[in-house]
Amino acid sequence: MTTINDHYLKLKAGYLFPEIAKRVNAFCESRPEADVIKLGIGDVTEPLPGAITAAMHDAIDEMSQRETFHGYGPEQGYAFLREKIAKFDYQDRGVSISADEVFVSDGSKCDSGNILDIFGDNNRIAVLDPVYPVYVDTNVMAGHTGSADEQGRYEGLVYLPVTAENDFVPEFPDEAVDLIYLCYPNNPTGVVASKEVLKRWVDYARSNNAIILFDAAYEAFITDPEIPHSIFEIEGADEVAIEFRSFSKNVGFTGTRCAFTVIPKKLKAQSSTGEAVSVHQLWNRRQSTKFNGVSYIIQKGAEAAYSTEGREQTRQLIDFYLENAGRLREGLEKVGIRVHGGVNAPYVWLKTPGDFDSWGFFDELLQKAHLVGTPGSGFGASGEGYFRLSAFNSRENIEAAVDRFQKLVS
Ligand code: MLT
Repeated sequence: MTTINDHYLKLKAGYLFPEIAKRVNAFCESRPEADVIKLGIGDVTEPLPGAITAAMHDAIDEMSQRETFHGYGPEQGYAFLREKIAKFDYQDRGVSISADEVFVSDGSKCDSGNILDIFGDNNRIAVLDPVYPVYVDTNVMAGHTGSADEQGRYEGLVYLPVTAENDFVPEFPDEAVDLIYLCYPNNPTGVVASKEVLKRWVDYARSNNAIILFDAAYEAFITDPEIPHSIFEIEGADEVAIEFRSFSKNVGFTGTRCAFTVIPKKLKAQSSTGEAVSVHQLWNRRQSTKFNGVSYIIQKGAEAAYSTEGREQTRQLIDFYLENAGRLREGLEKVGIRVHGGVNAPYVWLKTPGDFDSWGFFDELLQKAHLVGTPGSGFGASGEGYFRLSAFNSRENIEAAVDRFQKLVS
């Protein structure tokens, strides 16, 4: 009989967000009159900026004419988009990343999982705790862990707790690790990393021959000029880091799908025979074989995010969600809740009030206030007793959510 990848059996029953959706759907079925406001998954609500949709319309027109039609595009992404990314996201910030170090893709979630294809199975892997669940689950799927304990921690992974007690700054691992997942602005806690913190990680990676998988999907929400947007702003990071970026949260592409991964050509990892191999070349090989690129129309839309008009409209979108985050933060603080994040990030991370654990508070909030958030424990054992609210919603819903929240806890 055909066998399966047994490692999948180690995974917890459902991926966090579908599990939440299941519970919310069950609630809505039993209470169809309830006006539920969802601040759970970080999914954007506002329409795509006009500059972007206009570019997509033009691209559709091109596709309808033989002379301007496009078939397969380059697996790595069209040069017109890679060049804009390299210029606006890196070179204009004084970071030397070239267009051919940028790989356009259909999502950071996919890339952060797929990247494991090119690394060995014996790497020691460190993740923050709480953490974006994809980093953990994809390592479980790849067979890089043992089973989970009662708190959901997988044997073989190195967890670095980040809580209010350590100001959300992780300690370095006690044992040497080879791959380190970092996400800043952080999902789920909404905290950012200073230049000093990132420099310490880059130094750690350099002295341990480790690679940092840096998820910067939320960098556009950084407004503090002192906070780096990219790991490559740190000297020497181009020899020890890969960066994942996305158009999902800044220009609203969660349903449109476009992202990119930056792999500097200087980055090397070791083969089993001890040879230093270019990670860029391996990823290029992997993408050319398993991926056919992002559609021309979508890449034209993403390119338009870098036009003068596109950048202005994108800024407005980000400011809108940041204002939402600020309102959530202030509204919760007013009723005595300890709140983290939500300043240079679209997520607000709070201590669950009273004696509630994370899922207990999820149920309370849903049942009594018809509000949906994400239980902190869903992101890892150290997230227990915390709760995440997403600022991605309409202003009206954010205001109503703050109001309901305040009534519930005061
Ligand atoms: C989240 O809510 O954590 C994100 O929406 C998940 C994602 O971007 O995949």
